[in-house]
Amino acid sequence: MSSTLSPIDKAKFLAAKQAASYVETGMKVGLGTGSTAAWLVRCLGERVRDQGLQIKGVPTSHRTADLAREVGIEVITLDEAKWLDLTIDGADEYDGQLNLIKGGGGALLQEKIVATASDQMIVIADISKQVESLGAFPLPVEVIPFGWQTTKALIEEALIGMDVLGRATSLRMNGDSPYVTDEGNRILDLHLNRIGNARQLSLVLNQIPGIVENGLFIDVCDKVVVGFGDGKVEVRDINDGTVVPAFFDLHEDENLFADLGD
Ligand code: A5P
Repeated sequence: MSSTLSPIDKAKFLAAKQAASYVETGMKVGLGTGSTAAWLVRCLGERVRDQGLQIKGVPTSHRTADLAREVGIEVITLDEAKWLDLTIDGADEYDGQLNLIKGGGGALLQEKIVATASDQMIVIADISKQVESLGAFPLPVEVIPFGWQTTKALIEEALIGMDVLGRATSLRMNGDSPYVTDEGNRILDLHLNRIGNARQLSLVLNQIPGIVENGLFIDVCDKVVVGFGDGKVEVRDINDGTVVPAFFDLHEDENLFADLGD
């Protein structure tokens, strides 16, 4: 089964497996959302089942909560946890300072709250997520439904004064209807192409009435575990400035792959 994984899925899986090895019994762990985070949840589920790992997970979406329960992870709310030891999540882009764009999967609000309430945030990603400057991936912004078109216009006006290469905005759709977040909000995607000053943009956006949160994660992430399609994994740590390699034998994971079915 493992041999049928595409190089990109292999890279995501390997990053998730490495990050799962940092989790210890007794920890309260924030569980991210997205395809890479789903691998993480499966890897943790396997450790719960096979190694007796005892953790409490705080999911960042209904999707992740369902998967976590399915693989045997005890799920609690953030309010029950109050503070977390570690959050592990995917990202849509990360730069050299480990600043991120997140929210491609629409879960940026809970993801940012959970990551911010953690001693440490680790991002798991395949190498395609690494960028020189953030912004090629459209920046998701969560807005409340009331007056969203006015909020959109205010965002477009604010972008005129920002150091960005594009200023188009679009309402995220789910088929013929607007995409609705777990909190009942909408997502506006900002097609900026390149963001010159992500910190400033994040502050400006969050001042606009109607915006709940934006997908820029500035100074939140401590480490990125990067997977490559050839089986290589690198761990980049922003705090001590190191890049450490790790290697895995995919054949050891036949059980995990078998769980996925065909
Ligand atoms: C979910 O809202 C996002 O922030 C995801 O973490 C991000 O889109 C990465 O997803 P993938 O792991 O599926 O690329």
